[in-house]
Amino acid sequence: MSKPGATSDDTRERVGPRSGGGAAQDGPSNGSLVLDARDVSKSFHQGPVILEVLRGAALSVAAAERVAIIGASGSGKTTLLQILGGLDQPTRGQVLVDGRDIHRLTEKERGELRNRAIGFVYQFHHLLPEFSALENVAMPLLVRRAPVPEARKAARELLERVGLGQRLDHRPHQLSGGERQRAAVARALVTQPKIVLADEPTGNLDGANAESVFGLMLELNRERGTSLVVVTHDTRLADRMERVYEIEKGRLSERLMPSLRRDEPYTGT
Ligand SMILES: Nc1ncnc2c1ncn2[C@@H]1O[C@H](COP(=O)(O)OP(=O)(O)OP(=O)(O)O)[C@@H](O)[C@H]1O
Ligand SMILES: [Mg+2]
Repeated sequence: MSKPGATSDDTRERVGPRSGGGAAQDGPSNGSLVLDARDVSKSFHQGPVILEVLRGAALSVAAAERVAIIGASGSGKTTLLQILGGLDQPTRGQVLVDGRDIHRLTEKERGELRNRAIGFVYQFHHLLPEFSALENVAMPLLVRRAPVPEARKAARELLERVGLGQRLDHRPHQLSGGERQRAAVARALVTQPKIVLADEPTGNLDGANAESVFGLMLELNRERGTSLVVVTHDTRLADRMERVYEIEKGRLSERLMPSLRRDEPYTGT
């Protein structure tokens, strides 16, 4: 983690992250936006009932920006994040990732874009049960055909950073819930993606471990210009993001940063 990417300050001055401007078609309409979601709606059909979870959500994230998404349980945070990461299709709307419309790509192209540009931390870790922690974290690099020793080295370093240096050969079922989550964060960061989409990455962690996992994400943000979009209930974490969005009744809206919250004691989650 040495070479800086686009520095956050430069980028933020040049780019109006809320502008969301540019052409709607595939292509680098606004090269500095790593993520540009427009008019995203999602409904689920349950028999005769249509559940509208997202209604016209718009969100754009510049290089090196840090964004939090908050909202009550069941408000649609995971649904939104999965649509942003190309894991679920919107009912309507468009998501440009690094200038490409992720939902209009073939499965193969989408997989490649995700592997190249996105680090995804699932709410429930999704580690592969038959592989060790080290193998799980190395996997995204192996998928892109990195040499095995290099992939294992990068995975080991990140696992050490999240305090799992003594658990490299453990399978997921041999790890605690928080350890699994830390391994999942390491897996999302190992490719040094342009953007990390993280669904409650500190949800199962105590204060100290939440701090170290989040510290690692912030370091990547600072040093490499990695953008962060983090779903969280943790107000201390949300306060360290530059912008906070809230989902309520299917609507995504930006909040003014509530500086009052900064003084509240950290309780973890
Ligand atoms: N595949 C699905 N089919 C039907 N309804 C779904 C589906 N996925 C999610 N939902 C519904 O959409 C709503 C939003 O779910 P989502 O998982 O996005 O919430 P969330 O904000 O992430 O909640 P939490 O904080 O509890 O993780 C919920 O009411 C859920 O029941
Ligand atoms: Mg969720």
